[in-house]
Amino acid sequence: MAEHLLELRNVSQVYRSGDREFLALKDVSLALDEGEFLVLLGPSGCGKSTLLRIATGLQRPTSGEVLYRGEPVRGVNPRATIVFQTFALFPWLTVLENVEVALAARDVPPAERRRRALEILDRVGLDGFEGGLSPGALRRDAPKSGVCPGHGGGAGAFMLG
Ligand SMILES: Nc1ncnc2c1ncn2[C@@H]1O[C@H](COP(=O)(O)OP(=O)(O)OP(=O)(O)O)[C@@H](O)[C@H]1O
Ligand SMILES: [Mg+2]
Repeated sequence: MAEHLLELRNVSQVYRSGDREFLALKDVSLALDEGEFLVLLGPSGCGKSTLLRIATGLQRPTSGEVLYRGEPVRGVNPRATIVFQTFALFPWLTVLENVEVALAARDVPPAERRRRALEILDRVGLDGFEGGLSPGALRRDAPKSGVCPGHGGGAGAFMLG
């Protein structure tokens, strides 16, 4: 069978609260290949964020499987980036330092971290803004980068590499 970049097989998510159960996702299967762009559209509460958390390994589904390049995802997938709906920057760090946090978590050495962070910011048009951004600019530019906070609406995004 062909190996996909990301594959969800029969993923279901049940949320439990006391003896009440809520079925948020039922038997979801999808495959995403390299270079593909996928949009999840649906009304508030239909399970988009739940699906993104499961796809990136932040949350284990109640049942079903998640595969990244053919391998089962166990724990957080270090090759995935998620732009959260809520503010998820470290406000005491600069824009550049916020980008470097993710690279530090992957044990990238400091000089390489700086080089790659500058390159990423340049690529998403934030060259010159390494020191800081106004709240408005942060919200506007957030979806571009995957390194900035999510915007306040009903959207979320994740990127794989
Ligand atoms: N931790 C949780 N415990 C219980 N119920 C939850 C939990 N997380 C989400 N839900 C419920 O699961 C459903 C799906 O939630 P989810 O956040 O995935 O929806 P969404 O499509 O991302 O919504 P929105 O467009 O508002 O962001 C909702 O009904 C929500 O209330
Ligand atoms: Mg959501």
